[in-house]
Amino acid sequence: MTVTLGEGGTPLLQAPRLSERFGVDLWLKWEGANPTGSFKDRGMSVAVSRAVEGGAHTLVCASTGNTAASCAAYAARAGLRAVIVVVRGAAAGPKLSQVRAVGGEIVEVEGTFTEAFAHAEQLGSQPGVVVVNSTNHHRIEGQKSAAVEILEQLGGAPDMLTLPYGGGGNTRAYALGFGDRLPRIHPVQATDRAGTVASAIRIVEPVHRAEVEEVLARSGGSIATVDDEAIVAARGLLGSEEGLYCEPASAAGIAGLEQTARPGERVVCVVTGHGLKDPL
Ligand code: F0G
Repeated sequence: MTVTLGEGGTPLLQAPRLSERFGVDLWLKWEGANPTGSFKDRGMSVAVSRAVEGGAHTLVCASTGNTAASCAAYAARAGLRAVIVVVRGAAAGPKLSQVRAVGGEIVEVEGTFTEAFAHAEQLGSQPGVVVVNSTNHHRIEGQKSAAVEILEQLGGAPDMLTLPYGGGGNTRAYALGFGDRLPRIHPVQATDRAGTVASAIRIVEPVHRAEVEEVLARSGGSIATVDDEAIVAARGLLGSEEGLYCEPASAAGIAGLEQTARPGERVVCVVTGHGLKDPL
């Protein structure tokens, strides 16, 4: 059985004004167009479908909010229970509203994302309970589809791909999806990982760090680091120059462009989530 809400197939939008501003041929992969408003739905469809096949009754995840909203929605769709572990006060309100609206149960813990993840893994050790964080490889398999779409939409690989860097699962997924047509990849992280305004990527210890390093070595890319001021400014530019309303974390790729882009090259920036999820 496939558990789906119609995820994927998102637009790849040309960005004429930002292209001119940054001196590149810029395209935006608009992942806010997914059913729950973020890229997480791609992998959640696969992970939840496999969990149902395996006879699961409960899904669990630790999240800064988007995995939470996606997990709860796909669990509801499949008739499963969803238990969502968040750090108290750390997830944006609208994302928690999304979870509650589809019947997800929220467990709040003190500490950092690492503690929330440890708690989720503990819950996941019970029979019939499946952890749907990005450590569940079905999530990564589903997220690969975004890279395949870009290859189709552009008629080939871009020179460079840039995207926000939280835990690194999405960087890993894009690299796998591009296969032997891997562009240079630049994941962009917040200077203050522990306290950034970009709540979705408020993660101190990226769980996929080693895999990201491997992708960088193979693709000739590097990690860019941007402060909150640059993130907020980039989010504003996406809105005022291209009409896209994204959440702060999703603007990280644009915020890093001055460090990452080479003149005239074709760049795809992954805009990972909708602005309604984390309004400033
Ligand atoms: N952008 C958004 C909107 C996110 O929600 C996340 C991660 C990322 C980027 C970073 O992706 O972790 O694969 O490097 N959100 C997770 C969550 C942590 O719980 O929703 P990554």
